[in-house]
Amino acid sequence: MGVGAIGSVIAALLQTAGQNELVLCTRRPLPHLDVETPEGNVRVSYTNLTSPSVAQVVDWVIVATKTYDAPGAGAWIKRLAEQGAPVAVIQNGVEHRERFAVYVPEDRIVPVIIDCPAERRAPGSVHQRGTAELFIPADAQGRAFAGLFHGSAAQITLTDDFLSAAWRKLCINSAGSISALLGKPAGVFREEAIGKVTLEVVRECAEVGRAVGAILDEDLPEKVLTQYRNYPVDSVNSLLADRLARRPMETDARIGAIVRFGRECNVPTPRNSLLLSLLEAL
Ligand SMILES: NC(=O)c1ccc[n+]([C@@H]2O[C@H](COP(=O)([O-])OP(=O)(O)OC[C@H]3O[C@@H](n4cnc5c(N)ncnc54)[C@H](OP(=O)(O)O)[C@@H]3O)[C@@H](O)[C@H]2O)c1
Repeated sequence: MGVGAIGSVIAALLQTAGQNELVLCTRRPLPHLDVETPEGNVRVSYTNLTSPSVAQVVDWVIVATKTYDAPGAGAWIKRLAEQGAPVAVIQNGVEHRERFAVYVPEDRIVPVIIDCPAERRAPGSVHQRGTAELFIPADAQGRAFAGLFHGSAAQITLTDDFLSAAWRKLCINSAGSISALLGKPAGVFREEAIGKVTLEVVRECAEVGRAVGAILDEDLPEKVLTQYRNYPVDSVNSLLADRLARRPMETDARIGAIVRFGRECNVPTPRNSLLLSLLEAL
């Protein structure tokens, strides 16, 4: 469920793995799904449902909506996971379990972080521009979820320290909020002054992450800045893409989380608080 950029990439991977039968849950009918992957084009075969009221139970529920669409996803989860199916939540942020605990017991939620540049070109057409890397907790359910991708091109890391993996990704995403606020793609990070601000924003995020127990490299802010400076100058992160398309942005799950956890742990987050206020005002 959530057959956008990431959901479509996941569907294509599950299909190439070979042993999976797919049910794609969408808000509007999806007559076909084609994913251009680094390994070639995949036309996905599936059953399409467009209303939770007709959903039947499944073995696994996989959610790849935007974080702010959790309530809509929850309506599907209630039907699909009625008989105890585990629910993999593939989203950014650090609150995968908290976000879905109202719809399914927390011990059935498998949080997943994905690194994969992908975008929807049109309904039913998705471009996956690079390898999909999934970070999954190395417990029994996480291993079972990883097993669904066996034989596909997915790069999977089973980790005993999912918390650190999620905060590391949040540190990368925290920088993206600067270009979303400016309305400018990645080239803006090459400017000296923006580079300085980026280091400060990511440093704050890393300090909050460490306060909640994540283990993060000391030089992570510098690495994040280098990563953004190495992107093509016209590269658009997903927060900026949402802003440009006049969609809601995942500000709460990203910058909001940094500010919230910072407040709880008494770690000051003045720069992220300012970014949050300004982006929310937009
Ligand atoms: N795109 C990337 O490169 C990337 C990379 C790493 C991580 N992520 C993360 O992955 C998550 C998904 O991002 P995305 O880029 O794939 O988002 P996306 O392209 O906007 O796709 C989200 C999909 O969810 C669907 N949806 C929303 N509410 C629904 C409901 N009630 N029932 C059924 N479908 C529903 C939307 O349907 P409609 O078509 O009807 O709007 C849309 O197809 C986010 O947390 C994002 O931060 C994205």
